[in-house]
Amino acid sequence: MSIEPPAVSAAVVDRSLAELFENDPGRADRYVVEAGDLRIDYSKQPLDDGLLAALVSWAETAGVPERREAMFAGEHINVTEDRAVLHTALRAPAGSVIEADGRNVVPDVHAVLDSMAAFAERVRADEQITDIVNIGIGGSDLGPAMVAEALAAFGHPRLRTHFVSNVDGADIHTTLEQVEPTSTLFIVASKTFGTIETLTNARTARAWLVDSLGEGAVADHFVAVSTNAERVAEFGIDTANMFGFWDWVGGRYSVDSAIGLSVMILIGPDAFHEFLAGFRAIDEHFRAAPLGRNAPVLMGMIGLLNANVLGRDTKAVLPYAQELARFPAYLQQLDMESNGKRVGLDGRPVDGDTGPIVWGEPGTNGQHAFYQLLHQGTRVVPVDFLGFAHPNHPYQEHHDLLMANLFAQAEALAFGRANADEPHRLFPGDRPSTLILADRLTPSVLGQLIALYEHIVFVQGVVWGINSFDQWGVELGKELANQITPELTGDPNPSAHDASTNAAIDWYRHRRG
Ligand code: F6P
Repeated sequence: MSIEPPAVSAAVVDRSLAELFENDPGRADRYVVEAGDLRIDYSKQPLDDGLLAALVSWAETAGVPERREAMFAGEHINVTEDRAVLHTALRAPAGSVIEADGRNVVPDVHAVLDSMAAFAERVRADEQITDIVNIGIGGSDLGPAMVAEALAAFGHPRLRTHFVSNVDGADIHTTLEQVEPTSTLFIVASKTFGTIETLTNARTARAWLVDSLGEGAVADHFVAVSTNAERVAEFGIDTANMFGFWDWVGGRYSVDSAIGLSVMILIGPDAFHEFLAGFRAIDEHFRAAPLGRNAPVLMGMIGLLNANVLGRDTKAVLPYAQELARFPAYLQQLDMESNGKRVGLDGRPVDGDTGPIVWGEPGTNGQHAFYQLLHQGTRVVPVDFLGFAHPNHPYQEHHDLLMANLFAQAEALAFGRANADEPHRLFPGDRPSTLILADRLTPSVLGQLIALYEHIVFVQGVVWGINSFDQWGVELGKELANQITPELTGDPNPSAHDASTNAAIDWYRHRRG
């Protein structure tokens, strides 16, 4: 599979952003796209009209419109797992028809949403429950953890959410120290209900609860979210207390499924429906807007320009909103687990680089940590900046300062500051960024942001010709860990490992005693 970017006119790439702005005063108006409530300004990317047209036609030739329709239509575009990819059905309005394998899934989706809502209302009304502990990992943790933090301002005042993911006992230990058995609800969230980290944490939490309240308390304090009813029952959670979803929802695309139960309890069913409506607004935009005015297509193709034409390996996502502190971590799974692939759909090596390395921190903290490299380092890191007109807190002075910093950083990165006498003080500029703005971080706007990035990842995966919906790369480590675990306490099996791994196992066996 070969990734063939369009021939990019040297005239654009060799011209600085300053020159591009000088020669085209209208670009700040023209290179802005609105999608739902998002205003996306990509004028500080190294583009002109010709290059933009070439990028759009690259998307077209690569088959983005056809693949997009295949995804929305429930075709098995996840070929290696032979599954439909229908996270868009999770936010489809009741009454619409979306078929997976000949079955309309929309009534199933709404039946689960309704039972989640009834349960959420019950918990919100139950004065005894103060703490919700979600136990899950990967997509069964990062989504709800990120959203619960992002939408804390919309949360029920009595309820606190906790997210336990790491098999490191410190994670569950710290959480259990903060909660009381009588006032805690545990949600065990796992698509497969076979993930060792989650099952280990869930067993520990269950034992902790049973230890103080007895076996009979499990039914009132544990619910499960999963696609696997059998394993949920085996674990000892009544399937009457289970909220389901389906194999056509990938883990990293599941925060708007029952995996979002903790979020629904926290913000309430109405706000959760607003969150879903936000996703839907961007789904509709992605499906209907012409490619040249289509936000996920434009951002996806600009990402390809930076990655495959200009050779920029990483991408920073920098939210100027403290509540979005976990948004970059969430995007790491969404993007890197989806597009960190080295073979194409045809099983042959991809000729070129795929998924970027995604990273980031909220502004202004990042400014006092890694922005030095962004401004004056040898590598160019394309940036997505996120900001909001209104904060969800009462401190206007803070917000003005925050936004001034956001605008200043984008300006400084793009245009720099020449100072020939003082090379250490020179800012070369010409560092691209996209500025995503919205009125306020609401449930709907957060849904819009997530859907925007889901579809960016989709567009890029199509152009790279890879399957963005499997994750075989996580398997080998899991298998080896399962093999090594009994060797730490039982008989070692040196013939199964290399010398370095054997030495490490040996070191641990001796010290653990
Ligand atoms: O990291 C691999 C992975 O399969 C993710 O794709 C998934 O989100 C995570 O593990 C958790 O899986 P589960 O929800 O089945 O416990």
